[in-house]
Amino acid sequence: MAEISSSEFGDDFTWGVATAAHQIEGAWDTDGKGPSIWDEFTHGRGPLGLHRIKDDATADVATDSYHRYTEDIALVAAMGFDAYRFSISWPRVMPDGTGAVNQAGLDYYSRVVDACLAAGVEPWVTLYHWDLPAALERRGGWTNREIIGWFSDYVATVVAALGDRVRHWMVFNEPLSFTMLGYLLGAHAPGRRGRNAFCAASHHVNLATAEGVRSARAATPQPASIGTTQYLSPVLASGIGPLAGIAERSADALVNRLFLEPNLGLDYPWDDCRLLAGVKRHVRDGDDQLATIDLDFLGVQYYTRLRAPWLPIPGIWTIPHFGQDRSCELTSMGWEVRPEGLGMVLDRVHSYGAFDRVVVTESGASFDEHVVTTPAGDRVPDNRRIAYFQRHLAELRAARDRGVPVEGYFCWSLLDNFEWTFGYRPRFGLVHVDYETQRRTIKDSGRWFAALLGGSAADRNGSAEGNSAE
Ligand code: FCB
Repeated sequence: MAEISSSEFGDDFTWGVATAAHQIEGAWDTDGKGPSIWDEFTHGRGPLGLHRIKDDATADVATDSYHRYTEDIALVAAMGFDAYRFSISWPRVMPDGTGAVNQAGLDYYSRVVDACLAAGVEPWVTLYHWDLPAALERRGGWTNREIIGWFSDYVATVVAALGDRVRHWMVFNEPLSFTMLGYLLGAHAPGRRGRNAFCAASHHVNLATAEGVRSARAATPQPASIGTTQYLSPVLASGIGPLAGIAERSADALVNRLFLEPNLGLDYPWDDCRLLAGVKRHVRDGDDQLATIDLDFLGVQYYTRLRAPWLPIPGIWTIPHFGQDRSCELTSMGWEVRPEGLGMVLDRVHSYGAFDRVVVTESGASFDEHVVTTPAGDRVPDNRRIAYFQRHLAELRAARDRGVPVEGYFCWSLLDNFEWTFGYRPRFGLVHVDYETQRRTIKDSGRWFAALLGGSAADRNGSAEGNSAE
């Protein structure tokens, strides 16, 4: 197993953990928060009255981090991380999505930021991690071009309020995931299905990325680093021959280029992906300039490699699926563990020559694990996750050696949480959560990071330090 030492990454390297508001906060209607599309999606039923979420779960309580954020941030510090990436819930700050600001919501995030700084942890803030105000979805959500203005106003409000203390911002979390799953396939909120909705949403998100960065730059009271994050993944052909090659190019354009290239001033990859022809009807004169933006950093999110469909039939058949090659380890979600894919996506973004700074803003794996009571205290053995991080960090180090300017690594996730339609079954955390009691227990992987990074939760002489109380 690759040995990892933090010194090989340099003093300026950022070591962080990530979460998202809807997955951890709970308090879905507390202190003036408006409903989000995810609140409505989890509270409702799908076609034929079927459950949309495993076990009919909701994130009404989740990990209750709205009330437990100080404990959670103490865990970040105890594991030795120097950065905490969390997201702002738009409807907590603006219940209707536009207009009136809910001061209690802004105050909550202000307290989170202060708690980070008091713990010696740098806040990295995502402005949109999928929880659109439900009121805006009723006005068309991401398919309505007006959302670019709504989003810019929201960004300006948050950045003006927190920007005296926050120096790292990410405009979006994974545009591909929320547009494809939410507007094309109907599997995520808002549950819409249609190529036109997807094409409209994609174009508006590309424009909102650039406008969001401009809005944040104009609103920040101090110099700040403003980027965005992308889901990126090597896409493999499923067969051989010209048709498989076409399907591979098409799926690759959808996954890796649709949300990266327009912001670089490049055309949409229409020629390689027929599905994207539908974007044309939403493009207006001057949009190419409007979409072009110089990011301060690119957030790369990598989980697993994907496989293209067998045949390039235009439409949803362009969409790749998760590989299930049983010759390699699979996570509890059935995702292949392919550390080399991280190196591949890092090389690929580097090859554009356009990103001076790259940060891995999510990387992690779900495995089933349990709390074990030992004489030295409660433990959560999760050696597979430790190996996962060792192997991915070795890939990252190799990419740095090749000259890719990767300046940080954020584990997904700080703690087990609400994994969207999979509910609470997958456990991605470095910290285990008992959902009955909300008790947090640092897993062995969290202790491994603490040992790597000099955190207080590292094992010392076999003792079980660092676990937080109930
Ligand atoms: C990413 C999401 C994150 C989490 C992980 C497992 O795609 O950004 O919220 O669900 O997957």
